[in-house]
Amino acid sequence: MKIEDNIETFNSLLRRRGFIWGPSPEIYGGFAGFYSYGPAGMALKNNILDIFRRECRYFGFGEVECPTIMPSIVWEASGHLERFIDPVIRCNKCKTLYRADKFLQENLPDQVREGLSFKEMEILIEKYNLTCPKCDIPFERIEEYNLMLKTSVGNNTIAYLRPETATTTYLLFNRLNQDARRQYPIKIFQFGKAYRNEISPRQGVLRMRAFDQFELQIFISKELEMNFEEFNEVKNEKLPLLDWKQQEKDDSKINAISLDNAIKNGILKKPAYAYCLFIGYHLTKILGIPEPLIRFRQHSINERAHYADDAWDLEIKTRQFGWVEICGIHDRTDYDLKRHAEYSKQNFEVSMGSDSKIKEVPQVLEIAFGIDRIIYTLLETNFIIDQGRINLKINQRLAPNTVAVFPLVKNKEDIKKLALKIHRELLENRINSFFDAAGSIGKRYRRQDELGTKWCITIDYESLEDNTVTIRERDSMDQKRLNISELANIIKKKQEE
Ligand code: GLY
Repeated sequence: MKIEDNIETFNSLLRRRGFIWGPSPEIYGGFAGFYSYGPAGMALKNNILDIFRRECRYFGFGEVECPTIMPSIVWEASGHLERFIDPVIRCNKCKTLYRADKFLQENLPDQVREGLSFKEMEILIEKYNLTCPKCDIPFERIEEYNLMLKTSVGNNTIAYLRPETATTTYLLFNRLNQDARRQYPIKIFQFGKAYRNEISPRQGVLRMRAFDQFELQIFISKELEMNFEEFNEVKNEKLPLLDWKQQEKDDSKINAISLDNAIKNGILKKPAYAYCLFIGYHLTKILGIPEPLIRFRQHSINERAHYADDAWDLEIKTRQFGWVEICGIHDRTDYDLKRHAEYSKQNFEVSMGSDSKIKEVPQVLEIAFGIDRIIYTLLETNFIIDQGRINLKINQRLAPNTVAVFPLVKNKEDIKKLALKIHRELLENRINSFFDAAGSIGKRYRRQDELGTKWCITIDYESLEDNTVTIRERDSMDQKRLNISELANIIKKKQEE
C-alpha cells in the first residue's frame, strides 16, 4: 500500500470511527479551524487527561481553572495585544491574506528555515518575485496580523478570548502564593480552551481556532533555577536535543544527550529548565508515542514568542505533516509577573531563596501542551495497516473501549443474554466495555481494531455449555478461552501491565 493511500485511510478512520469531525458545523458547510470530537475522540481525550493529571500530581503540580475571556488590560500587560502576531502578505488586488512564513515554506522549501525575520522574508519574496497564486500580482511588504479574538462583554466592554491558558494562571499569583504557604517553587497547571484567529487554518486539528491547552507553570527563584534538587533525579536522562546552531548546519542529525551534558555544554542554561524538558518528554512517552519520532527543537531568536528567553518545541514526526510541535517549553523569566505587577499596581515580590531578606519577582518556566495535537500525533503514529488489517496500536489505557463484548450470533437469544450479562458485569467492575451485536463477527473485530480496543470477548455456543468465552488480543490476534468468572479480574490485571 502506498503511503498516500495509507494517509487517506487514516484520515477517513478519524471520521468513520468518531474520533474527529469537521470543520464544524458540517451541516452548514463548515467553519475553517473549528472541529468537534465524536464519542471515541472524547473518550481518548479524557483518558489522556486522566494520565496527565495523575502524573502532574506525582510531579507536585496543583490545578486551577480560569475564565477564557479577559479584559483588554490583561492582554496589554501580557504583551499579546502588541506582539502576538503572525507575519502576513496581502494581495493588493483580491485582498487575500497569506501567512508569510507558511507561504514561503510551501513555495521555496529549500530556501526557508524556521524563524526568519520579517526583513529576511521580505528579501526572499522580492528575490524570487513571489506573486499571489490567484491574481499573479507581486507581494509587496510584510504586515503584522494579531491572532487575538476580540469580543465585547456587557455594555460594549472590549475583551479578548484568551490565546493561552498561561496568562490567566499568572493572574492568580498572589492567591497561589498564599495557598502555597511559602513552599517554593510553586507548580501549577491549567487545562482548557484557548483561541487564536489563525489566518487560513489548514492541517485539520493541528491549527484550530479554538483548541485545548494543558499548560504547566513553575514559579521559581533565580537561585533555585540554578540549584534545582529535582534535576539530580533526571540529569542522566538522554533527550534528543536539536539546538538552533545545529539546525543551521544539519537538522537531520539529532543526538540524544544527557541533560547533565546539555547543561555542561551550554546547550541548556538552567537545571530547572532542563527538568521541564524532562517532564515534557516523560508525559509524551508515557502516552506511547514511539521514541524515534520525538525530538526537541530549539527556537532561534526570531522564532521565540515575545515572552520567552529560551524556547524548545517538543516535536513529533508525522507522515502527513512532517515534524509537528505538540509542546512548547518556555523560559518566560520574570517577564509576565513584572508586566502584570506594573499594569495592576500589585506587588509580586516574594522572598523565595535562601536569604529571606532578598525579595524578587518569581521567574516562570512553562511546559505548554496542545491536547488536540497530541491526539492527532498519537493516532497517526500508532496507526498501522498490517496485511490489509487496520490496527490502532494505542496504549490500552488510552483506548476509548477497554474491551468489546460480542455475542457470536445475534439471533440466538441465550447467547445474546449471556453476552449482555457479561458486558454489564464488566461495567459494574468499572471496566470500559462496549457491546456490539451488529454485523459479522469479522467486521466487529475490525471495527474494534480501528478503535484500538485491546481485548474482544466473544460468547458462543460453547459458552452456554461450559461458562467459558474467547478473548482475543488486538495486536497478536491470539485467542484464548477463559472462564467467565475470571474475566473481570484478568482484565483488571492486564490493564495494569
Ligand atoms: N503558553 C504558551 C503557548 O501558548 O504556546
